[in-house]
Amino acid sequence: MRRGKALPLAPAANATAPYNEGFEYNKNNTMRRPFFFLSALCCALLFSTARAADEQPVDATGIAKRVAPCMACHGKEGRAAPDGYYPRIAGKPAGYLYNQLVNFREGRRKQYPLMTYMVQHLSDAYLHEMAEFFAAQHVPYPPPLRIDVSAATLERGRALAMNGDPARKVPACIACHGEKLTGVNPNIPGLLGIPRDYINAQFGAWREGMRRAVAPDCMGDIARSLSLEEISAASAWLASQPAPADPAPAASIKLPLACGSAVPPEGK
Ligand code: HEC
Ligand code: HEC
Repeated sequence: MRRGKALPLAPAANATAPYNEGFEYNKNNTMRRPFFFLSALCCALLFSTARAADEQPVDATGIAKRVAPCMACHGKEGRAAPDGYYPRIAGKPAGYLYNQLVNFREGRRKQYPLMTYMVQHLSDAYLHEMAEFFAAQHVPYPPPLRIDVSAATLERGRALAMNGDPARKVPACIACHGEKLTGVNPNIPGLLGIPRDYINAQFGAWREGMRRAVAPDCMGDIARSLSLEEISAASAWLASQPAPADPAPAASIKLPLACGSAVPPEGK
Protein backbone atom coordinates (compact mmCIF):
# COMPACT_ATOMS: atom_id res chain seq x y z
CA MET A 1 0.00 0.00 0.00
CA ARG A 2 1.74 3.13 -1.17
CA ARG A 3 -0.19 5.50 1.07
CA GLY A 4 2.04 4.44 3.97
CA LYS A 5 5.27 5.42 2.25
CA ALA A 6 6.76 8.66 3.56
CA LEU A 7 6.66 11.54 1.11
CA PRO A 8 10.16 12.71 0.19
CA LEU A 9 9.79 16.08 1.89
CA ALA A 10 13.44 16.65 2.69
CA PRO A 11 14.79 15.99 -0.83
CA ALA A 12 12.08 18.19 -2.27
CA ALA A 13 13.15 21.08 -0.07
CA ASN A 14 16.78 20.58 -1.15
CA ALA A 15 15.66 20.50 -4.70
CA THR A 16 14.87 24.20 -4.55
CA ALA A 17 18.58 24.99 -4.32
CA PRO A 18 19.12 25.76 -8.01
CA TYR A 19 16.25 28.22 -7.86
CA ASN A 20 17.70 30.07 -4.93
CA GLU A 21 20.76 31.59 -6.46
CA GLY A 22 19.88 35.25 -6.48
CA PHE A 23 16.32 34.81 -7.68
CA GLU A 24 13.18 36.10 -6.12
CA TYR A 25 10.60 33.55 -5.40
CA ASN A 26 8.75 33.08 -2.21
CA LYS A 27 9.93 29.79 -0.87
CA ASN A 28 7.33 29.70 1.87
CA ASN A 29 4.45 30.22 -0.47
CA THR A 30 5.64 27.95 -3.19
CA MET A 31 6.95 25.07 -1.22
CA ARG A 32 4.40 24.61 1.52
CA ARG A 33 1.22 24.74 -0.48
CA PRO A 34 1.58 21.55 -2.54
CA PHE A 35 2.19 19.29 0.39
CA PHE A 36 -1.42 19.61 1.47
CA PHE A 37 -2.40 17.96 -1.79
CA LEU A 38 0.31 15.45 -2.02
CA SER A 39 -0.85 12.27 -0.41
CA ALA A 40 -4.15 12.61 -2.25
CA LEU A 41 -2.38 13.37 -5.52
CA CYS A 42 0.06 10.56 -5.42
CA CYS A 43 -2.56 8.05 -4.42
CA ALA A 44 -5.01 9.24 -7.05
CA LEU A 45 -2.36 8.79 -9.71
CA LEU A 46 -1.06 5.50 -8.50
CA PHE A 47 -4.45 3.89 -8.07
CA SER A 48 -5.89 5.08 -11.33
CA THR A 49 -3.11 4.11 -13.70
CA ALA A 50 -1.49 1.11 -15.26
CA ARG A 51 1.71 -0.01 -13.58
CA ALA A 52 4.73 -0.36 -15.87
CA ALA A 53 4.95 -4.04 -15.05
CA ASP A 54 1.38 -4.79 -16.11
CA GLU A 55 1.32 -2.54 -19.21
CA GLN A 56 -2.47 -2.61 -19.08
CA PRO A 57 -4.21 -0.41 -21.62
CA VAL A 58 -5.42 2.83 -20.06
CA ASP A 59 -8.84 4.35 -20.38
CA ALA A 60 -8.40 7.23 -22.81
CA THR A 61 -11.73 8.86 -21.96
CA GLY A 62 -10.66 9.50 -18.37
CA ILE A 63 -7.37 11.26 -19.06
CA ALA A 64 -8.59 14.79 -18.28
CA LYS A 65 -9.74 13.61 -14.89
CA ARG A 66 -6.60 11.65 -14.18
CA VAL A 67 -4.24 14.55 -14.91
CA ALA A 68 -6.18 16.89 -12.62
CA PRO A 69 -3.66 16.31 -9.79
CA CYS A 70 -0.85 17.59 -12.03
CA MET A 71 -2.63 20.94 -12.24
CA ALA A 72 -2.39 21.49 -8.49
CA CYS A 73 1.23 22.40 -9.16
CA HIS A 74 1.40 23.14 -12.89
CA GLY A 75 -1.65 25.41 -12.90
CA LYS A 76 -4.96 25.22 -14.71
CA GLU A 77 -4.52 23.19 -17.92
CA GLY A 78 -0.78 23.15 -17.20
CA ARG A 79 -0.33 26.88 -17.83
CA ALA A 80 2.10 27.33 -14.88
CA ALA A 81 1.28 28.82 -11.51
CA PRO A 82 1.48 32.62 -11.16
CA ASP A 83 4.54 32.43 -8.89
CA GLY A 84 6.67 31.07 -11.73
CA TYR A 85 8.09 28.16 -9.77
CA TYR A 86 6.19 25.31 -11.43
CA PRO A 87 6.91 25.19 -15.13
CA ARG A 88 4.29 25.57 -17.79
CA ILE A 89 3.64 22.27 -19.51
CA ALA A 90 0.64 23.36 -21.64
CA GLY A 91 1.31 23.43 -25.38
CA LYS A 92 4.91 22.15 -25.20
CA PRO A 93 5.67 19.54 -27.89
CA ALA A 94 4.30 16.13 -26.89
CA GLY A 95 7.58 14.30 -27.53
CA TYR A 96 9.41 16.80 -25.31
CA LEU A 97 6.94 16.37 -22.44
CA TYR A 98 7.06 12.60 -22.82
CA ASN A 99 10.88 12.60 -22.75
CA GLN A 100 10.84 14.66 -19.56
CA LEU A 101 8.43 12.31 -17.82
CA VAL A 102 10.72 9.41 -18.80
CA ASN A 103 13.77 11.42 -17.66
CA PHE A 104 12.17 11.89 -14.23
CA ARG A 105 11.17 8.23 -14.07
CA GLU A 106 14.63 6.98 -15.10
CA GLY A 107 16.46 9.36 -12.76
CA ARG A 108 18.02 11.59 -15.45
CA ARG A 109 16.20 14.62 -14.00
CA LYS A 110 16.83 14.82 -10.28
CA GLN A 111 16.15 18.42 -9.23
CA TYR A 112 12.66 17.71 -7.98
CA PRO A 113 12.27 14.24 -6.46
CA LEU A 114 8.49 14.62 -6.14
CA MET A 115 8.18 14.52 -9.94
CA THR A 116 10.12 11.27 -10.00
CA TYR A 117 7.98 9.92 -7.21
CA MET A 118 4.82 10.69 -9.14
CA VAL A 119 5.80 8.97 -12.37
CA GLN A 120 8.06 6.19 -11.15
CA HIS A 121 5.44 3.45 -11.53
CA LEU A 122 3.69 4.72 -14.63
CA SER A 123 3.90 2.92 -17.97
CA ASP A 124 5.25 4.42 -21.19
CA ALA A 125 1.72 4.32 -22.65
CA TYR A 126 0.34 6.35 -19.77
CA LEU A 127 3.18 8.88 -19.92
CA HIS A 128 2.47 9.30 -23.64
CA GLU A 129 -1.17 9.93 -22.90
CA MET A 130 -0.41 12.60 -20.31
CA ALA A 131 2.14 14.22 -22.64
CA GLU A 132 -0.37 14.33 -25.50
CA PHE A 133 -3.01 15.79 -23.20
CA PHE A 134 -0.85 18.71 -22.05
CA ALA A 135 0.66 19.31 -25.51
CA ALA A 136 -2.88 19.86 -26.80
CA GLN A 137 -3.70 22.58 -24.21
CA HIS A 138 -3.31 25.90 -25.99
CA VAL A 139 -3.78 28.49 -23.29
CA PRO A 140 -2.54 32.10 -23.17
CA TYR A 141 0.95 33.01 -22.01
CA PRO A 142 1.51 35.58 -19.26
CA PRO A 143 2.99 38.94 -20.34
CA PRO A 144 6.80 39.06 -19.98
CA LEU A 145 8.18 40.37 -16.70
CA ARG A 146 10.30 43.50 -16.63
CA ILE A 147 13.86 42.39 -16.06
CA ASP A 148 16.26 44.72 -14.37
CA VAL A 149 19.53 44.24 -16.26
CA SER A 150 21.67 46.58 -18.34
CA ALA A 151 21.11 47.15 -22.06
CA ALA A 152 24.55 45.58 -22.68
CA THR A 153 23.50 42.38 -20.89
CA LEU A 154 20.28 42.17 -22.87
CA GLU A 155 22.23 42.67 -26.09
CA ARG A 156 24.70 39.92 -25.11
CA GLY A 157 21.74 37.62 -24.45
CA ARG A 158 20.08 38.48 -27.74
CA ALA A 159 23.32 37.84 -29.65
CA LEU A 160 23.77 34.42 -28.04
CA ALA A 161 20.19 33.42 -28.75
CA MET A 162 20.22 34.59 -32.35
CA ASN A 163 23.86 34.07 -33.43
CA GLY A 164 25.56 31.93 -30.77
CA ASP A 165 29.31 32.45 -30.51
CA PRO A 166 30.83 31.18 -33.77
CA ALA A 167 34.43 31.74 -32.58
CA ARG A 168 33.82 29.18 -29.79
CA LYS A 169 31.54 27.01 -31.93
CA VAL A 170 28.57 27.66 -29.63
CA PRO A 171 25.46 27.37 -31.81
CA ALA A 172 22.67 29.93 -31.57
CA CYS A 173 19.61 28.96 -29.51
CA ILE A 174 17.48 29.48 -32.64
CA ALA A 175 19.55 26.86 -34.50
CA CYS A 176 17.74 24.18 -32.48
CA HIS A 177 14.79 25.87 -30.78
CA GLY A 178 13.46 27.23 -34.06
CA GLU A 179 13.79 30.53 -35.85
CA LYS A 180 10.98 32.02 -33.76
CA LEU A 181 12.12 30.20 -30.59
CA THR A 182 8.78 28.38 -30.43
CA GLY A 183 10.40 24.93 -30.45
CA VAL A 184 10.41 22.18 -33.05
CA ASN A 185 8.14 19.16 -33.21
CA PRO A 186 8.18 16.63 -31.78
CA ASN A 187 10.88 16.93 -29.12
CA ILE A 188 12.36 20.43 -28.80
CA PRO A 189 10.61 22.93 -26.51
CA GLY A 190 10.10 26.64 -27.17
CA LEU A 191 12.03 29.18 -25.09
CA LEU A 192 9.58 32.09 -24.88
CA GLY A 193 7.05 32.64 -22.10
CA ILE A 194 9.33 30.83 -19.60
CA PRO A 195 10.34 32.60 -16.38
CA ARG A 196 13.99 33.58 -16.07
CA ASP A 197 14.40 31.69 -12.79
CA TYR A 198 13.28 28.48 -14.44
CA ILE A 199 15.73 28.87 -17.35
CA ASN A 200 18.60 29.64 -14.96
CA ALA A 201 17.65 26.68 -12.77
CA GLN A 202 17.68 24.30 -15.73
CA PHE A 203 21.12 25.53 -16.85
CA GLY A 204 22.37 25.09 -13.27
CA ALA A 205 20.98 21.56 -13.25
CA TRP A 206 22.66 20.64 -16.55
CA ARG A 207 25.98 21.99 -15.35
CA GLU A 208 25.75 20.03 -12.11
CA GLY A 209 24.57 16.81 -13.78
CA MET A 210 21.16 17.02 -12.05
CA ARG A 211 19.42 17.17 -15.42
CA ARG A 212 20.43 14.95 -18.31
CA ALA A 213 18.82 13.82 -21.54
CA VAL A 214 19.47 10.71 -23.58
CA ALA A 215 23.04 10.94 -24.97
CA PRO A 216 24.40 12.84 -26.76
CA ASP A 217 23.09 15.42 -24.31
CA CYS A 218 23.54 18.55 -26.45
CA MET A 219 21.96 20.91 -23.89
CA GLY A 220 24.35 19.62 -21.21
CA ASP A 221 27.28 20.40 -23.53
CA ILE A 222 25.92 23.85 -24.31
CA ALA A 223 25.25 24.63 -20.64
CA ARG A 224 28.83 23.70 -19.75
CA SER A 225 30.29 25.75 -22.60
CA LEU A 226 28.64 29.00 -21.48
CA SER A 227 29.78 31.15 -18.54
CA LEU A 228 27.33 32.04 -15.77
CA GLU A 229 27.25 35.62 -17.09
CA GLU A 230 26.31 34.36 -20.55
CA ILE A 231 23.57 32.12 -19.18
CA SER A 232 22.22 34.99 -17.11
CA ALA A 233 22.27 37.30 -20.16
CA ALA A 234 20.52 34.74 -22.37
CA SER A 235 17.83 34.05 -19.77
CA ALA A 236 17.27 37.79 -19.21
CA TRP A 237 16.78 38.42 -22.91
CA LEU A 238 14.59 35.36 -23.48
CA ALA A 239 12.34 36.06 -20.50
CA SER A 240 11.87 39.69 -21.53
CA GLN A 241 10.52 38.78 -24.98
CA PRO A 242 6.77 38.73 -25.54
CA ALA A 243 5.32 35.30 -26.28
CA PRO A 244 4.87 34.90 -30.02
CA ALA A 245 1.46 35.51 -31.56
CA ASP A 246 1.61 32.00 -33.01
CA PRO A 247 3.37 29.73 -30.50
CA ALA A 248 3.15 26.63 -32.74
CA PRO A 249 6.45 24.71 -32.85
CA ALA A 250 8.27 24.53 -36.21
CA ALA A 251 7.78 21.33 -38.18
CA SER A 252 11.43 20.35 -38.56
CA ILE A 253 14.98 21.67 -38.34
CA LYS A 254 18.50 20.56 -39.22
CA LEU A 255 20.42 20.50 -35.94
CA PRO A 256 23.99 21.87 -35.71
CA LEU A 257 24.88 19.22 -33.07
CA ALA A 258 23.51 15.75 -32.39
CA CYS A 259 20.89 15.64 -29.61
CA GLY A 260 19.80 12.23 -28.32
CA SER A 261 16.55 13.71 -27.05
CA ALA A 262 15.66 15.15 -30.47
CA VAL A 263 15.27 11.70 -31.97
CA PRO A 264 11.57 10.78 -32.02
CA PRO A 265 10.75 8.30 -29.24
CA GLU A 266 10.37 4.67 -30.18
CA GLY A 267 6.99 3.71 -31.49
CA LYS A 268 6.17 7.26 -32.65
C1 HEC B 1 3.99 18.75 -6.23
C2 HEC B 1 4.03 19.61 -7.40
C3 HEC B 1 3.98 18.91 -8.76
C4 HEC B 1 3.01 18.02 -9.21
C5 HEC B 1 1.78 17.49 -8.47
C6 HEC B 1 3.39 17.69 -10.57
N1 HEC B 1 4.52 18.37 -10.93
FE1 HEC B 1 5.47 18.25 -12.74
N2 HEC B 1 6.95 19.47 -12.05
C7 HEC B 1 6.97 20.09 -10.82
C8 HEC B 1 8.19 20.90 -10.73
C9 HEC B 1 8.63 21.78 -9.54
C10 HEC B 1 8.88 20.74 -11.95
C11 HEC B 1 10.22 21.36 -12.35
C12 HEC B 1 11.29 20.45 -11.84
C13 HEC B 1 12.61 20.74 -12.42
O1 HEC B 1 13.05 21.88 -12.38
O2 HEC B 1 13.22 19.80 -12.95
C14 HEC B 1 8.06 19.84 -12.75
C15 HEC B 1 8.41 19.48 -14.04
C16 HEC B 1 7.56 18.79 -14.91
C17 HEC B 1 7.81 18.56 -16.32
C18 HEC B 1 9.00 19.07 -17.11
C19 HEC B 1 8.64 20.43 -17.69
C20 HEC B 1 9.64 20.96 -18.67
O3 HEC B 1 9.33 21.96 -19.33
O4 HEC B 1 10.75 20.42 -18.79
C21 HEC B 1 6.75 17.85 -16.81
C22 HEC B 1 6.55 17.38 -18.23
C23 HEC B 1 5.84 17.63 -15.69
N3 HEC B 1 6.36 18.21 -14.57
C24 HEC B 1 4.64 16.95 -15.80
C25 HEC B 1 3.80 16.65 -14.72
C26 HEC B 1 2.64 15.78 -14.81
C27 HEC B 1 2.15 15.12 -16.09
C28 HEC B 1 2.10 15.71 -13.56
C29 HEC B 1 0.92 14.89 -13.09
C30 HEC B 1 1.16 13.46 -13.24
C31 HEC B 1 2.92 16.58 -12.69
N4 HEC B 1 3.95 17.11 -13.44
C32 HEC B 1 2.67 16.82 -11.36
C33 HEC B 1 6.02 19.96 -9.82
C34 HEC B 1 4.93 19.11 -9.86
C1 HEC C 1 22.12 21.67 -30.53
C2 HEC C 1 20.70 22.01 -30.32
C3 HEC C 1 20.38 23.01 -29.23
C4 HEC C 1 20.89 24.28 -29.06
C5 HEC C 1 21.93 25.01 -29.89
C6 HEC C 1 20.22 24.83 -27.89
N1 HEC C 1 19.32 23.92 -27.38
FE1 HEC C 1 18.20 24.14 -25.72
N2 HEC C 1 17.42 22.27 -25.96
C7 HEC C 1 17.75 21.40 -26.98
C8 HEC C 1 17.04 20.16 -26.80
C9 HEC C 1 17.14 18.92 -27.70
C10 HEC C 1 16.28 20.31 -25.62
C11 HEC C 1 15.41 19.24 -24.95
C12 HEC C 1 16.30 18.55 -23.95
C13 HEC C 1 15.60 17.44 -23.20
O1 HEC C 1 14.80 16.70 -23.78
O2 HEC C 1 15.87 17.34 -21.99
C14 HEC C 1 16.54 21.64 -25.12
C15 HEC C 1 15.96 22.17 -23.96
C16 HEC C 1 16.19 23.44 -23.50
C17 HEC C 1 15.55 24.01 -22.33
C18 HEC C 1 14.56 23.32 -21.41
C19 HEC C 1 13.20 23.96 -21.50
C20 HEC C 1 12.25 23.45 -20.44
O3 HEC C 1 11.03 23.65 -20.62
O4 HEC C 1 12.69 22.86 -19.44
C21 HEC C 1 16.07 25.27 -22.18
C22 HEC C 1 15.75 26.28 -21.08
C23 HEC C 1 16.99 25.50 -23.27
N3 HEC C 1 17.05 24.37 -24.05
C24 HEC C 1 17.66 26.71 -23.48
C25 HEC C 1 18.54 26.93 -24.53
C26 HEC C 1 19.23 28.20 -24.74
C27 HEC C 1 19.06 29.44 -23.88
C28 HEC C 1 20.03 28.02 -25.84
C29 HEC C 1 21.00 29.00 -26.46
C30 HEC C 1 22.01 29.54 -25.52
C31 HEC C 1 19.83 26.65 -26.29
N4 HEC C 1 18.91 26.04 -25.50
C32 HEC C 1 20.46 26.10 -27.39
C33 HEC C 1 18.61 21.67 -28.03
C34 HEC C 1 19.38 22.79 -28.17
